Amino acid sequence: MFKEKYQKLGGELKTVPLKRCIRVNTHKTTPSILQKRLQKKGVVLERIPFVKNGFYVISSRFNLVSSPEYLLGLFYIQDAASQIPAEILNPKNLVLDAFAAPGGKTTQLAISSDVIAVDNKSLRMIKLLNNVERLGLDNIIAYTMDFMEVKKKFDFILCDMPCSGNYMLEPFWTKKNTQDRIDERSLLQKKYLSHAISLLNDDGVVVYSTCSLEPEEDEFVIDYALKNHDVCVEKIDTIGDEGVTHVFGKKLDPSIKHCRRLWPSKTNTIGFFMARLRKC
Ligand SMILES: C[S@@+](CC[C@H](N)C(=O)[O-])C[C@H]1O[C@@H](n2cnc3c(N)ncnc32)[C@H](O)[C@@H]1O
Repeated sequence: MFKEKYQKLGGELKTVPLKRCIRVNTHKTTPSILQKRLQKKGVVLERIPFVKNGFYVISSRFNLVSSPEYLLGLFYIQDAASQIPAEILNPKNLVLDAFAAPGGKTTQLAISSDVIAVDNKSLRMIKLLNNVERLGLDNIIAYTMDFMEVKKKFDFILCDMPCSGNYMLEPFWTKKNTQDRIDERSLLQKKYLSHAISLLNDDGVVVYSTCSLEPEEDEFVIDYALKNHDVCVEKIDTIGDEGVTHVFGKKLDPSIKHCRRLWPSKTNTIGFFMARLRKC
């Protein structure tokens, strides 16, 4: 089912070998200093061209997670695509990270803004707190709570949604997932995105991202938001295809083309979708 579905969307169900990626923690070091330091230990890094502080790990004789540089918090292991949403949100003041654990994007956002991080899973929150401590960031307040209980308003919100994932992230993903499961996720995502929009100050911005390639969890959710709330889609300047606007016989809002859909086979990433919405 997924093979034909992806073909209709201009993509394909093709597994690609991925290079390991890291994001430099610029709170503690710089990309060039870290690169030189790891180079002395024989680690070969190459800049990821479409993000600010990311490297592909071309080769390393040891597992980077066991290195002093990792334990000192000089970098975070993070896929290239996952480094994009925080960059396109680009918050100028306090930001809400609504689905935050284990903190990849929280610790990225905190480089330039104070962050309120929310997640409802306490075990995942422990991982977030460990990451925050390791990276030495002291401008993050973390709450273990359901996002639907958040009441405060914000100018910037990141919604890195719980989603069904994709075939690159899990063995047998195509066997485990059904259309019903995807439709259930889509309903939840519409609810969460609607709540996020209700928390936006006038002119505020929400970035919506998923690691799902299913239009029901991506473009359809954005189309729902456009039809039911006062938001518009803003153009994103990054890699990937345009959001699809004609899907399975349905015509979506044409501005959805400004979203970005990252097919693994076209971008050599884990696969991602992202949209930037502004309250208008
Ligand atoms: C895609 S993961 C987030 C990854 C994270 N943004 C990062 O970059 O490390 C989605 C997260 O949403 C959390 N979550 C799911 N439902 C939630 C809810 N109702 N309220 C708050 N968090 C929720 C999950 O526990 C999970 O950690």
